[in-house]
Amino acid sequence: MAYTLDIFRFDQATDEVPHRDRVEITDLPETVTVLDALEHAKAEIDGSITFRRSCRSAICGSCSMNINGTTGLACKTPVRSVLRSDRSIAVDPMPNFQPMKDLVVHMDPFWDKYTRLKPYLQPADKDEEHATERRVSPEDMKKLVAVANCVLCATCYALCPVVSVDPAFAGPAAIAYAYRFIEDVRDSKRKERAAQISDDYLWLCAHCYACSYCPKHVDPHDDIIAVKRATIEEGLTDAPGPRHALVVAKTVKATGMLHETEVIQGTVGRFNIRGLIKVAPLGIRLALAGKIPPLFLKPVPKVDEIRTIFETLEAPTL
Ligand code: SF4
Ligand code: SF4
Ligand code: FES
Repeated sequence: MAYTLDIFRFDQATDEVPHRDRVEITDLPETVTVLDALEHAKAEIDGSITFRRSCRSAICGSCSMNINGTTGLACKTPVRSVLRSDRSIAVDPMPNFQPMKDLVVHMDPFWDKYTRLKPYLQPADKDEEHATERRVSPEDMKKLVAVANCVLCATCYALCPVVSVDPAFAGPAAIAYAYRFIEDVRDSKRKERAAQISDDYLWLCAHCYACSYCPKHVDPHDDIIAVKRATIEEGLTDAPGPRHALVVAKTVKATGMLHETEVIQGTVGRFNIRGLIKVAPLGIRLALAGKIPPLFLKPVPKVDEIRTIFETLEAPTL
């Protein structure tokens, strides 16, 4: 049975605004992938339809696009799994990127953030003769197996709501790559890498888990938590992000609850007079609404059990 591709069309060289073309596919079964359907449309119906692809096997990462509002690899998405009730599929370029031509986007911001990480091993000694084998134990390697599957398709970057509001944010893939080198026992630049990714707004991650929808099951979100922990372990705590994480953990560990008064002061910085003056209007509004949090909190019953969780997880606190 026929189905329709509802395709975003735009050429930055000639078009002021985008438009959409509907292309009917009559002689391909629904078991093919969205990429197969696009290839067919280009070969048989309109040769000007433009998209990126190479491997057609979910390996190269080049065919990431928005399919019915969700970004993913077109070569890994069967047509039948995404057909809408009117038997159409909307295909659009990845969000969070500038469109270049049809489904092809400008990838420069993504690659810039990746390149800034210096994404290659930097061991302590140069070993230019390659005389020494740098061995990694299976246990140390286990930590890197998932992230090694990343094909830099940028699906997670396109899905990240923080990138959409603040393009300066490194994004999930770059942070996952920072993790890949921070956790590699052969690398010698742990602190420098932690500092670099902190400068690229690591702490803006809102832990929304949108990037867990990764076609290669990398799940950058877990790596982001590990990288934040690494920056704290490296002593990079003089910024609102790490201060906030540490003071939240401290108050929950001490009382079993979030002690908001202490969290605000701790995040802004106890001796940051200018910062504290800035948040004062919020305190006044809360007081006027009768919602001022208590100055002191009594620990909840069985708070020892909460403290045991912190100790078991070896969670850093102030
Ligand atoms: S982490 Fe997953 S979604 Fe993100 S770039 Fe790598 S493979 Fe793509
Ligand atoms: S968990 Fe963080 S990096 Fe991942 S999508 Fe959400 S905000 Fe972006
Ligand atoms: S074409 Fe290579 S990942 Fe889809």
